[in-house]
Amino acid sequence: MDNLILIGFMGCGKSTLGVSLSKRLDIPFLDTDKYIEDGQKTSISDIFAKQGEAVFRRLETDCLKELLEKSGDVVISTGGGIVICEENRRLLKELGTAVYVKVSPETVYERLKEDNTRPLLQGTNPLEKIKALMQQRSRFYEEAASVVLEADKKSVEELTQEICSLIERRKR
Ligand code: S3P
Repeated sequence: MDNLILIGFMGCGKSTLGVSLSKRLDIPFLDTDKYIEDGQKTSISDIFAKQGEAVFRRLETDCLKELLEKSGDVVISTGGGIVICEENRRLLKELGTAVYVKVSPETVYERLKEDNTRPLLQGTNPLEKIKALMQQRSRFYEEAASVVLEADKKSVEELTQEICSLIERRKR
């Protein structure tokens, strides 16, 4: 399968970029968080609060497996923690070309400081939480990615163009 998959930390812009790419490439867009929320008929925060993170991680694996059964290419935006699990990193490789949308902890902090929908960043010292999680996860993003995209200080339009050029180059 050759889906285009966006991976990266919370707040890196995967969903916005995914919508833009889906329009440019004229293929459907799918967001794994939304897919899970629709399937469970509740919010991610609620799943974390009532069932815990481990259950959410299993739902992410189920989601990737279900997407592998679908035909037709799609732009997929993923939850920031999907790469933690080794099985998911393998499934992502099967599913298509994964682009790691890489941003700094400060960019994430600026974008998400007022956000209350990310259970892992609630409470005191969100910047410290972002830095610690990013440090744990960056090797997993690098491992799962086919391409790394430096995304700090670039517009959605620039990033869309950059990804389209990268895909074109990989096809040749
Ligand atoms: C998470 C990222 C979130 C969502 C959940 C957990 C994470 O998705 O899946 O809150 O562990 O990084 P976004 O990356 O779309 O914010």
